[in-house]
Amino acid sequence: MSSKIGRNDPCWCKSGRKYKTCHAAFDDRLSRFSAQGKVVPPHSLIKTPEQIAGIKESARINIAVLDYLDREVREGMNTAEIDRIVYEITTDMGGIPAPLNYEGYPYSVCTSLNDQVCHGFPSEKVVLREGDIMNVDCSTILNGYFSDSSRMYCIGEVSPEKKRLVEVTKECVEKGLEQVKPWGFLGDMGQAVHDHAYANGYTVVREIGGHGVGLAFHEEPWVGYNSRRGTQMVMAPGMVFTIEPMVNMGGVGIYTDDENNWEVYTDDGLPSAQWEIMVHVTEDGHEVLCW
Ligand code: MF3
Ligand code: CO
Repeated sequence: MSSKIGRNDPCWCKSGRKYKTCHAAFDDRLSRFSAQGKVVPPHSLIKTPEQIAGIKESARINIAVLDYLDREVREGMNTAEIDRIVYEITTDMGGIPAPLNYEGYPYSVCTSLNDQVCHGFPSEKVVLREGDIMNVDCSTILNGYFSDSSRMYCIGEVSPEKKRLVEVTKECVEKGLEQVKPWGFLGDMGQAVHDHAYANGYTVVREIGGHGVGLAFHEEPWVGYNSRRGTQMVMAPGMVFTIEPMVNMGGVGIYTDDENNWEVYTDDGLPSAQWEIMVHVTEDGHEVLCW
């Protein structure tokens, strides 16, 4: 922490208040964590109330798109239709689908079925069949603010095994969320996610995680779910990040399609599930911005 800022100077957060009555105590607290060797967030990750308001407007679109899909997704539909719906609702509401052209990603949304772990390409050839489970990962840009969340869809009657995977994965996110409060550690959240998945006989993907989000699609920190309590970045009020574990029914191994370099699959062909929420660390706990 550089504290060259004078106590009577305007706070770095642009609140217009004096530093001493604004973020001085906050910086002291971070400095003490730093001195103990803990990882602390840089000021660039601390969102202002105006930025949070902008992120919430973006999230309103993301939620509306997924709510619409909750009503429309059904057997017989192909995933290119989902891509078209996401594009149309997002742009009708004034937003831009964040995935489109992101690092060359060619669609507006990711649709990942069964043994697809993430980044599944929507396609006319992928027709939803009874028994499929699918993650739809939706992200929006509105006025430069980013939102990101994903949900699972069960098509028709799904096997009890797959249904349980979908439910336990959602519980993992909820258990992680319970740990989100100021001055805790991302590892508190990560371990809660991990422990619940493994207690149910599942594994959690290690290579791909969540991320800071809001002013960019993927900000620091990287958010893993194989971390331990008391480790990883300190959670400070104003941070926004995603909780989005990919939980595998079988082994933890995954691979990326070497033709398109995007679609990720489980090594053993067993199903994988994922739910994603976007959470804001507040002064006294947390607020879910997008789900
Ligand atoms: N939405 C994904 C996430 O949760 C990112 C997908 S990258 C994309 O972080 F290019 F495929 F959109
Ligand atoms: Co994300």
